[in-house]
Amino acid sequence: MAVFWPRLIIAAILMTIEGAALGALAYLIQPLFDDLFSASNMVGVGWVALAIAGVFGLRAVAGFGQRLIVVSIGLKVTTSLQSRLLQHLLSLDLAYFRSTPPGALIERVRGDTLALQGLAATTVMSLGRDTITFASLLTVMLINDWRWTLLALIGLPLLVLPMLGLQRYIRATTAASREAAARLSTQLDEIFHGIQSIKLNRLERHETGRFDGEVRHFLREALRAQRGLAANPALIDLIAAAGFVAVLYYGGAQIIAGEKSVGQFMSFFTALALIFDPLRRLSNIAGQVQAGVASLARLYEVLEARATILPPTTPQKLQTGDIRFEDVHFSYGDTAVLNGLSFTAALGKTTAIVGPSGAGKTTIFGLLTRLVDADQGRITIGGQPVDGLELDGLRDGVAMVGQETALFDATIAENIRLGRLDATPDAVRAAADAASVTEFADAMPLGLDTPVGPRGSALSGGQRQRVTIARAMLKAAPILLLDEPTSALDARSEQLVQEALTRLSAGRTTLVIAHRLSTIRDADLIVVIDRGRVIEQGTHAELMAMNGAYARLEALQSAGLMPLL
Ligand SMILES: Nc1ncnc2c1ncn2[C@@H]1O[C@H](COP(=O)(O)OP(=O)(O)O)[C@@H](O)[C@H]1O
Ligand SMILES: [Mg+2]
Repeated sequence: MAVFWPRLIIAAILMTIEGAALGALAYLIQPLFDDLFSASNMVGVGWVALAIAGVFGLRAVAGFGQRLIVVSIGLKVTTSLQSRLLQHLLSLDLAYFRSTPPGALIERVRGDTLALQGLAATTVMSLGRDTITFASLLTVMLINDWRWTLLALIGLPLLVLPMLGLQRYIRATTAASREAAARLSTQLDEIFHGIQSIKLNRLERHETGRFDGEVRHFLREALRAQRGLAANPALIDLIAAAGFVAVLYYGGAQIIAGEKSVGQFMSFFTALALIFDPLRRLSNIAGQVQAGVASLARLYEVLEARATILPPTTPQKLQTGDIRFEDVHFSYGDTAVLNGLSFTAALGKTTAIVGPSGAGKTTIFGLLTRLVDADQGRITIGGQPVDGLELDGLRDGVAMVGQETALFDATIAENIRLGRLDATPDAVRAAADAASVTEFADAMPLGLDTPVGPRGSALSGGQRQRVTIARAMLKAAPILLLDEPTSALDARSEQLVQEALTRLSAGRTTLVIAHRLSTIRDADLIVVIDRGRVIEQGTHAELMAMNGAYARLEALQSAGLMPLL
């Protein structure tokens, strides 16, 4: 902020010039009528005309300059605020993003900062320029006749109470309209992300209808807010009318009686006519500040959110070793997900996790990487609890191929490089080779430089998955987490990827969540979980001998029934 002071001072000087110009204009009217017109002094009239032209020229330059300065400062502050907001948002827990829709966040980072900037710029301009204009015109009025001035403006104090009421109304309605804007953005975001199911289920009309409903809601709220903002100037106009009438009667009588000159009256009337315009804007400042406060409050809500998953005060370095879950409990709100989960994934070995959908398998990966923290129990790597480790080190030590689309709107190569930003092009290509990415990429005209489209939409599900596998290959972390890595693949790609994964998992501590027994069979340990706890564990042979849940699954899959446990 401090860097803006010199420019703000220049802006203030320019505003003073701009504001004083109108005072000078009103002041010049009096000699025009009293001394020059009556004396038929055309040369004098010419000089006054020149002076008025000069005043307006100066006003134009000053107005242009100060507007430019104020708006550019506003833009700089807003854009840096946007960057700061994003930086802060990225430090927050995953849970925050799960509970706040992306559209609403976008609306805060973009919409609220822009609303704030627009209001701040007009407020600063108004405060500077309009106060000076008001003061200069008031001076001209007082020079002419203080009684007239009093008469003209006596109604102003009457406005204080209604305006105070309006402030509260404006603040509330603006907050509601910003909230409605956030809902609009949320809905748009969901529509565009869900475009495929919308088309397939022919929901276009339904979605448009839903959107129309939200638009109407937004419109209602926005209009209410604008009504509040528009009421201020209207109040001023009422007072203005009363002022004009009073001065016209009282002053007119004085002129007819010969006590005052026409020039004085014209000069005063010009000043009076001009003074209500800045006054109207000044009266709006309080309203605009209230509207700004509504946006600011929403931004503060974001800035005040705090991450709960933090690095420990004395963080340990990640050591390689067994991964151990000991009596881990975890719930999302009231929904218990893990209920005393215990198992050990041995160093350098592959551990498969099998269980029905919703059993808590993916949650295990979230806990291990500290996307979420356990409510109870211990999770350790090499004997060290994960919440005692450096957070960066922990995340560096884990490569994950997840279920969620993890591609960004960039090229295939750039998406792979996200695994290790400083990787050489050769290393990227090697990873692409190993994950069978080159196999399909080389058939594309641009090869690895082919753009993948928003969220990878230009690739097939299997291709996307192979790109994320290549990314994990490039990351070459000691711990590998695979969440149904071959679920999106056809039989042939599955085989290719399976081979790639076998190469990748060699020597790394690997946890793989899988449904297909072909993926699981060779694992060093198979952990079967159900409703958040381990119900069976052992090698394939041991579990078959046990003749329990796993054996039943095997029987069904061998019969070609492919149940997803
Ligand atoms: N962000 C969330 N908020 C609330 N509940 C969740 C969330 N993520 C997952 N769950 C619930 O936790 C349970 C386990 O989820 P998950 O670990 O993804 O299961 P899966 O074994 O299919 O991978 C599910 O019942 C799911 O509804
Ligand atoms: Mg899952």
